[in-house]
Parts: sequence; structure tokens; C-alpha cells
Amino acid sequence: MSTYTEDKRKVTTHRLMEMKERGEKISMLTAYDYSMAKIVDEAGIDSILVGDSASNTMVGNVTTLPITLDQMIYHAKSVVNATKRALVIVDMPFGTCSGNPLKSLEAAIRIMQETGADALKIEGGKEIQEDVKKIIDAGIPVMSHLGLMPQSINKYGTYTIRAKEDKEAKKLIDDCLLMEELGAFGIVLEKIPAKLATRIAQQVKIPVIGIGAGGGVDGQVLVIHDMMGINKDFSPKFLRRYADLNTIMTEATQHYIQDVKGNDFPNENESY
Ligand code: KIV
Repeated sequence: MSTYTEDKRKVTTHRLMEMKERGEKISMLTAYDYSMAKIVDEAGIDSILVGDSASNTMVGNVTTLPITLDQMIYHAKSVVNATKRALVIVDMPFGTCSGNPLKSLEAAIRIMQETGADALKIEGGKEIQEDVKKIIDAGIPVMSHLGLMPQSINKYGTYTIRAKEDKEAKKLIDDCLLMEELGAFGIVLEKIPAKLATRIAQQVKIPVIGIGAGGGVDGQVLVIHDMMGINKDFSPKFLRRYADLNTIMTEATQHYIQDVKGNDFPNENESY
């Protein structure tokens, strides 16, 4: 199958904005390592998110909280090494951007300098506006993450849909407008009502990327282990599985075990 786009130019934050302006949807997937990033980049994905979901998918933690700045830098560097075209965005992990602008900037600079990534993603609204401003003022592109914010799981106690009530919806809209005003180049909206997400995408000029936020936004992001069917334990309504790699890899492993045990591998052609 050919790649979706023949345009081999590097994707920039500016080009994401142009895509929104001409109504072209933006595709984004997570990746955390060299091999996976190389596949999705060569397939033509617009943006790769080195999400702190690495804490779940790569380490097996229950939440995103335990992943550290050093670990995010390790994953991000691996992804950057593989990526030629896609815009690489890296999550600032829990605790690195929480009301101390100088400390936040220090962490942001470390990610940018040590990985070569293109941009950062930061969870949170008004409460961390000074941190976001400081980072953007230093010339680092920031994508905001609002709606369901997995780093705040201990505050809310549940991963259920956010902003269903008017008060929370209003705060979400205010936060989106604020992030745009501060200079964020985009917003990820996670698990909120589709109507509200559509309204926000129409209200702001910057691209809005949804996950569980319906089809009326400017682009979509999914966690690669979920959409490829590697992780079968997570089946929210918003998830579409595009492959069943779990079954393919299980069968391949069993086939290999059988061949080794049966003395069928390696054969003469596979030997020196
Ligand atoms: O960490 C992550 O993978 C994310 C996406 C769910 C948007 O933040």
C-alpha cells in the first residue's frame, strides 16, 4: 500500500495550522521507540506523540504518574532518531509543569535539547498558565492537553467523560481560549462530549486534536498499542482497532516455539 501523502516535507506546527485552515484532518499516533516510530513515520502520519502513556504501554504502570523526565527523554530520543517527516511532540511528565515556571522551563529545555523533538504537550489549564507562558516565551512550541487529564487521576478518581456539566464545560472553553491566547500551537481534547469539542474547534484558530472527542475536531490521536490491537485489555467506546497484532504476535511466537522444539529451526539454509 502506498503512503497516504506523497508530500515528504517535514511537518511543522505552522503546517498543522495550514491543514486546519484548508480543512485537512490531522493524523497523530503515539510511539515510544525507534522501530514503531519508523513504521508510522514512513506510513505518512502527520505527528507522533511521545505520550506519557509510555508509563502504561511500555512499563506496565497503572497510571501515567510514575514515568520520569529521564524516562520520557529516553523514549523521545528513540522516536526522534527514527522520524524524518512527522512532527514529534513529547509529553511533559507528571510533576514537571505544576506551578513553578522556572522549574518547568528547565524540564522543557532538557527535553528539547536532549531529544531533538519539535514540541511539547502539557496537561492543564489556567492553573499552570505561568508555566506555559514561560516555556512558550522561551521559543518552545506547546500543545495543550485538556478535558480528561490522566495525570490528574488522583484528583478526579475516575477516567470517565469530562465536561458534561455546564460549569466544567465553561471552564474547559475558557482554558482553551487562554491556551490559544498564550500562544499554544494546538490543543488535545480527551474524552469530552463531541458537540462541545466541535464548538471549541470552531471557536479557536489553532488545531484541536481529539481522542474520544468526536469527529468535529481538526484531527485525531490514538495510543498505538490500543489501535494496533497489541493491548487488548482497554476497549473504550472511542477506540477503533485497525489490526490484531496481539493475535498475530502470539501465533508467530507459538509457531517459533514449535519450530525450535521440533528441531525445524534453523534449517540448513539458515545455518553457516
Ligand atoms: O500520553 C498519551 O498517550 C496522551 C494521549 C492519550 C493523547 O496524552
